[in-house]
Amino acid sequence: MTNDTAYQWRHKDLLDVTQLETTDTLHLLDVAASFQEINNRPVKKVPTLKGKTVVLFFVENSTRTKTSFDVAGKRLSADTFALAKTGSSINKGESLKDTGLTLQAMSPDIIVIRHPSSGAAQFLADLLPCSIVNGGDGWHAHPTQALLDCYTLRQTWNGQFANRTLLILGDIAHSRVARSNMHLLHMLGVKLRMCAPRTLLPAGIDHWPVEVESDLATAVRDVDAVMCLRLQLERQQAGLLPDLAEYSRRYCLGRQHLRLAKPGVKILHPGPMNRGLEISNDIADDPACLVLNQVAAGVATRMAILYLLATRGNGGHA
Ligand code: CP
Repeated sequence: MTNDTAYQWRHKDLLDVTQLETTDTLHLLDVAASFQEINNRPVKKVPTLKGKTVVLFFVENSTRTKTSFDVAGKRLSADTFALAKTGSSINKGESLKDTGLTLQAMSPDIIVIRHPSSGAAQFLADLLPCSIVNGGDGWHAHPTQALLDCYTLRQTWNGQFANRTLLILGDIAHSRVARSNMHLLHMLGVKLRMCAPRTLLPAGIDHWPVEVESDLATAVRDVDAVMCLRLQLERQQAGLLPDLAEYSRRYCLGRQHLRLAKPGVKILHPGPMNRGLEISNDIADDPACLVLNQVAAGVATRMAILYLLATRGNGGHA
């Protein structure tokens, strides 16, 4: 953990990485590293959050985020329960406000929300006294993904973010992962490069602290890591990509590209992967691909997030 004994986590909610300072981020990553060991024990459970209640409120599909928050809560002995759109009264038209107030009436300590609308997590945070964690809201932010990516890169790069270059490749326009990683990794000193066809670059990218390159063979030169992004066909307007085969030919990361990067280059992907579309099959299965390390990091990072939120103002004690 951080040596700064005066440090105190002060956030009620985790809505966006832009609320975090470098000290918050490094402290959270240190706490995650201290929890990682629990995940390797024969008995993977500690009583740290016994008596705390965590709600997993997922209005969009998820495998990694939902499951790892569930595992993280249970490993810390919190009680977790899930509410999804399917099978709930959201499908009868119940509003976000009334659903939130209903969940709050059951006295949870933390609600993790994933929602297709940007700002949904902020809306609940303003409405409810319990802690809110943004598990992904529309195109806006995915702070816990950026934190676990940061944890993975910190381990891979032996704690050194300076003088490292990360290429983010693919559907940047629709990616909350790209936005959150851009903010967090820039704050930590990582140099960022982005590569996508012009139609998949977001408006305003000229004001982001990144280099932009449309040719993949040029973009990948001398990078330390490449983060491939899923082509989010479900969020795209018709006409942005007339031909998926052409997209794959120009932007699918393959072995020929990695020869142009730095020796020892690592590959990340937030998942789920479209093999053969944004990442080739052999790269997805290569030891340099850290996608499963990211999943493992997700459990430790989310344990740290639940712990810090549930014990804030309590000197870090549950
Ligand atoms: N990376 C990510 O958010 O994955 P899920 O959609 O499976 O949670």
